[in-house]
Amino acid sequence: NKPKILVSRAIFPDQLAQLEKSFEVRFNQADQVLTPVELQKELSSVVGALVTGSERIDASALLNVKDLKIVANIAVGYNNFDVPAMSAAAVMATNTPDVLTDTTADFGFALLMATARRISESEHWIRNGQWDKWSIVHNPLGMDLHHSTIGIIGMGRIGQGIAKRALGFGMKVIYHNRSRLSEANEKACGASYVSKEELLRTADHVVLVLPYTPQNHHTIGASEIALMKPTATLINIARGGIVDDAALAKALQSGKIFAAGLDVFEGEPQVHPELLKCNNIVLAPHIASATEKTRRAMVDLAVENLRAALDGKKPPSLINTEVFKA
Ligand code: GLV
Ligand code: GLV
Repeated sequence: NKPKILVSRAIFPDQLAQLEKSFEVRFNQADQVLTPVELQKELSSVVGALVTGSERIDASALLNVKDLKIVANIAVGYNNFDVPAMSAAAVMATNTPDVLTDTTADFGFALLMATARRISESEHWIRNGQWDKWSIVHNPLGMDLHHSTIGIIGMGRIGQGIAKRALGFGMKVIYHNRSRLSEANEKACGASYVSKEELLRTADHVVLVLPYTPQNHHTIGASEIALMKPTATLINIARGGIVDDAALAKALQSGKIFAAGLDVFEGEPQVHPELLKCNNIVLAPHIASATEKTRRAMVDLAVENLRAALDGKKPPSLINTEVFKA
C-alpha cells in the first residue's frame, strides 16, 4: 500500500509519473482551483500534499486531517499558509526558496525595462497602425534606467539579485528592508540602506520584492505614491496587497507617477478594472518564476521536502521547525 498524497495543480507529466512510483497520487487533472470544500476533503485522506498559492491552507482546510504530515508549497512566498494553524495541526510547512531567485530577478528587471521604456504601449502602437505617427517628440518616450537610481523595497535573495543586475546598468542602488544587510552583502550589491520615505522620494524606479504579511499590507498606498517623483516607475513582483491597486490606478491616470509594471494583483486572478484602463502600465499574470527549468526545479524541491517529511527527515526548506521531531 503506497502512501497517499495530493498534488493540487498540474505538474509536468514526467514529474508526476516519478511520484506515482512511490505514492498513490490524488491529482487535480483538470488543473482547476479546488474549492475550499474540495481541498478540505482531499487533505483529510492524504499524508502529504503539494500545493500552490491558489490553495489556502488554514484551520478550516485542516479541519478533518488525520495523517497529514506535510504541505509543500510550490512557491517561495507562503502567505497562502496559516503557519500557526498548520503547526497546531502538527503539519510541516515548506516553500521553495533559492531555486527561483535568478529567474525571478531576471523577470523583475525585464518588467522594469518594459515599463520604463513603454514596450507594451509601443506594441499597441504598431498593432493599431499608429507607426506612421512616428516623430522625434511624440513617440512613446520612456525613462532611462542607466545611471538612474533604483530603490528596492524588500532586500532578500531576489531583491539582492535585482540589485546586482542594476549595477551592470550603472544604476545607483538604494534599498529599504526590515533589517539591514551585512556590510559584505551591501557591498556585493553596491546598495545603500535608506528609510522608506527617502527611498520613495529619491528613487527613479521603485521595485517591490517583499513578502506579503499583514504588516506589509498596502506598503504602497496613496500617501506613499504622493512622495514619489512624477517621473518614477513602480514595479510589483512581490504579492498582491502590498500595493493599494485602486490608489495606484488613480495615480497612473492623473500622472502622479510615470508608469507601473505589475506581475501580482490584489484579488488575482482578478485585476482592478481601473488598472485595465491605464496605458502607462505593463501587466503580467504572476509569471516571475515561469521558465520551464525553474518551475521544474520548484516542483523537484517541493517533492524533496515532501519525501523528507514522510521519511522522518527534516525537509530542507522547513518553515515551522517546531513541528519537526527527529
Ligand atoms: C511566486 O510568487 C512564489 O512565491 O514563488
Ligand atoms: C525570496 O526568496 C527572497 O528572499 O526574496
